[in-house]
Amino acid sequence: MTSLVRRGILIVFEGTDGTGKSTQLQLLGHYLQDRGYSILTTREPTEGRYGQKIRSLYMDRKQYSREEELELFLADRREHVRQVLAPALEQGKVILCDRYFLSTVAYQGALGFDPEHILKLNRFAPDPDLALLFQVPLDTGLDRITSGRGDLLNDFEQRDNLARVAAIFGAIKRPYIRPIDAGGSIAEVHRLVIECVHSLLPVFSTGRV
Ligand code: TYD
Repeated sequence: MTSLVRRGILIVFEGTDGTGKSTQLQLLGHYLQDRGYSILTTREPTEGRYGQKIRSLYMDRKQYSREEELELFLADRREHVRQVLAPALEQGKVILCDRYFLSTVAYQGALGFDPEHILKLNRFAPDPDLALLFQVPLDTGLDRITSGRGDLLNDFEQRDNLARVAAIFGAIKRPYIRPIDAGGSIAEVHRLVIECVHSLLPVFSTGRV
């Protein structure tokens, strides 16, 4: 998005289900808020009209074609960029976003769409300043979903599908992507996240608190 006056910072949390990225997003939000940053936490799929439609897919993904599914995620993102992300960037906020267009590349890419084609379709969306890519072994992720969260696996979380998704996530090359080994404890992973964010935000080097 070239016309965007960009004073804020966009940090996105990406990875397969069960990597703990949502927990880490909350922790980083508190950490930055304690240091005086104006934070906006948000997520995709959103709570908007398209996001709600997407949530109805979770238990029965076959009700839409893969083209319709891709279009729903794109429509949700267009609305999110216009109504939430672009205004917050202009206001100078630090945005922490749980999933963004790399999720579309990986999850809808796993349906057979060309990942580069999906990236092109997302050109309307501003690039993140940092994409933290949370990675855990597949079985650890599945175990965290089923025993940790006490949930059944939804249609997006089936083993074969998640293996394809993880492979695509791992293959995307963009300068703003930083892989995070999310196999450690919550505190250990939080430290890794802070190290990555360090280079982006001057507060750490200037000592502002
Ligand atoms: P998730 O982060 O688990 O949201 P919630 O906490 O509301 O369950 O995301 C829901 C699922 O949507 C997840 O399995 C990944 C999938 N997804 C896509 O397939 N494409 C996308 O573009 C996005 C943003 C998510």
